[in-house]
Amino acid sequence: MSDFLELVGRRESCRDYSGAPVGKEDLLRCIEAARLAPSACNGQPWSFVVVTNEQMRGELVKVTQPFTKAAGAFIVLVEEKPSFQTKVVNKLKQQDYTQVDIGIAASHMCLAATERGLATCMLGWFNEKKIKELLNIPASKRVRLVISVGYATSHETKPKKRKDLDMLLNVVE
Ligand SMILES: Cc1cc2nc3c(=O)[nH]c(=O)nc-3n(C[C@H](O)[C@H](O)[C@H](O)COP(=O)(O)O)c2cc1C
Repeated sequence: MSDFLELVGRRESCRDYSGAPVGKEDLLRCIEAARLAPSACNGQPWSFVVVTNEQMRGELVKVTQPFTKAAGAFIVLVEEKPSFQTKVVNKLKQQDYTQVDIGIAASHMCLAATERGLATCMLGWFNEKKIKELLNIPASKRVRLVISVGYATSHETKPKKRKDLDMLLNVVE
């Protein structure tokens, strides 16, 4: 098994895909990693649409970002209604963890893809209305994230630009 931090370090946002197709088995593995993700009250407030169809991919490029042109697949993350228990807890605690939950699932997905040698980019900038029309997602639902998946043209990992540890860590001993 590879080292976890090494896997985390290898994941990066890909904006230059090679155009190679993505296998169904790899995509299902990414979905499985998301399915197993933790969520508040185990509410699992998500569903996923996997798009590999060439014509539909072309349509999704137009309503997301041009650099996704040569991605082999898209995964669309749809927010689903929280369970009754989650709703009650949210109300009591005045918290809504739905987007946190979806973010965790997205992260699992991207790391699972990285482990298979795939490259991803989480996309928060897209035309939600058009995506819902294209994929027959009810207008009442929210599309929270789109992930482009494919093979990167380069195998080099870019250096990570991150805050230094002393800017974000407080240790209470
Ligand atoms: C919720 C979310 C939304 C994002 N939306 C976009 C986007 O619309 N377009 C884009 O090119 N990158 C997007 N990114 C990628 C970030 O820019 C990227 O994760 C960040 O710059 C760190 O770089 P890295 O992913 O290569 O480590 C998004 C990332 C997240 C987590």
